[in-house]
Amino acid sequence: MKDLMRLHTSLKEEIEIILNAQCKIESDASQKYLAMASWLDRNGFEKSAGYLYAQAEEEREHFLKIFHYINEVGGTAVTPAIGEVQQEFTSFKSVFEIALQNEIAVTHAINRIIAKCREVNDYATEEFMMWYVKEQREEEHNARRVLELFDIIDADSATGRFVIDKEIAKIGSPE
Ligand code: FEO
Repeated sequence: MKDLMRLHTSLKEEIEIILNAQCKIESDASQKYLAMASWLDRNGFEKSAGYLYAQAEEEREHFLKIFHYINEVGGTAVTPAIGEVQQEFTSFKSVFEIALQNEIAVTHAINRIIAKCREVNDYATEEFMMWYVKEQREEEHNARRVLELFDIIDADSATGRFVIDKEIAKIGSPE
């Protein structure tokens, strides 16, 4: 039955699989940011918590955008299972170090999808994924800007942490 269904779409199974895997990655990113935001909230970093709560929402949108695309092009979007999520972090800065690592990993995953699209001549999906290329460039840039704050402001002092918390909230919002 599945093979018969596939005759009605140009979507190749390997692209459907890799797109569903990306849904899981984006959904996991949303969960990770939510846990990070909660940790920041509990530890007195209210402004940067707000920044990551918003990021968690954005990642959910990234996930849903791909999810809808899969169904739109005749595939089967699979709801990703929610796995274990890291709830505790060693420091204010470590939250954002993990966030940058996560964004870099997402960028690599998106690049792998585009490489696969080119391999199998799926130009529609390649074009669709270009939105993510631009988005990742911005997100990585913002994640690095956050870490730069820790380089120039002393996070060991309460005043420094207060300033960093406020400055993080400005990143990504219109000046
Ligand atoms: Fe949608 Fe920043 O990964």
